[in-house]
Amino acid sequence: MQSAQPNSDSETSWGRKDLVELQSLSAAELNLVLQTAAAFKTVGTRHIKKVPALRGKTLVNFFVEPSTRTRVSFELAAARLSADVINMSASASSLTKGETLKDTARNLEALHADVIVLRHSSAGAAQFLAERLESSVVNAGDGAHEHPTQALLDAFTIHEKKGRIEGLHVGIVGDILFSRVARSNLFALTRLGAQVTLVGPSTLVPREFERLGVKVSHDLDAVLPELDVINLLRVQHERQSRSYFPSLGEFTSLFGLTKARAARLREDCLIMHPGPINRGVEIDSDVADSGRSVILDQVTNGLAVRMAVLYLCNAARSGETIS
Ligand code: CP
Repeated sequence: MQSAQPNSDSETSWGRKDLVELQSLSAAELNLVLQTAAAFKTVGTRHIKKVPALRGKTLVNFFVEPSTRTRVSFELAAARLSADVINMSASASSLTKGETLKDTARNLEALHADVIVLRHSSAGAAQFLAERLESSVVNAGDGAHEHPTQALLDAFTIHEKKGRIEGLHVGIVGDILFSRVARSNLFALTRLGAQVTLVGPSTLVPREFERLGVKVSHDLDAVLPELDVINLLRVQHERQSRSYFPSLGEFTSLFGLTKARAARLREDCLIMHPGPINRGVEIDSDVADSGRSVILDQVTNGLAVRMAVLYLCNAARSGETIS
């Protein structure tokens, strides 16, 4: 494992009370989050895995869509920062009685929520609240728009394992069209100097993505041997109103990371997946559990990255300058 710190050459400060997307973040801002996360990761190695950075603050984890990794790691991140944490799900909230998202959020703010972490099926939901609330709003995934903390933890993991991001070739494979993870990843990785190739069927990876500074390929076998990192994405059936490929079997035969394809990767190519995995569809089960897979490292790093994001956004809202 490499130990180089994320790039700290450029001077910057963090002035964002919210984190709703990565598209507008500079390389310096991205590096500041990664450096802050590196510092917080050491907290997890201590006997007492807690710091008082958010003592007296309240975080509401408001998940209108299902989640395992993101919800639990935000809860744990807030606890490690000594914040009070409230978990809310849509089905147990007054959204079911017709209350609007804005009214729900304003009521949470009236109860002195300092930070609201929101996962929502609608693109733009986090931005909508961020513009209307004094509380910090952190996007935990909004429809097919962005999943900023997932891409930050992916970037952190790549840097941790490879010692750099600049100059690496990262392939993101699968259902790109409906993937908020792909969007946030391509914004972060291209800004940090990586070359990104999006790979999948033409129905799920249209050429329009090239306008965002990435390459598009519909031939995984041609791209495989060139990659430093391969990030497999789940097919987002829940966002698709029609079928974008003939069958899952055909998708796997053309775009799945089978054992035979994994054997054609560079020996040091990192295998990533944001989870949840559909074993045997986008990735072979043994490949997912192999030594080159860093899938569980991604989950572990999500904790430090989310601590960093909560710390930075809360500090900006409170008028503190972090640089
Ligand atoms: N990667 C990710 O967002 O997983 P969850 O849906 O379990 O949070």
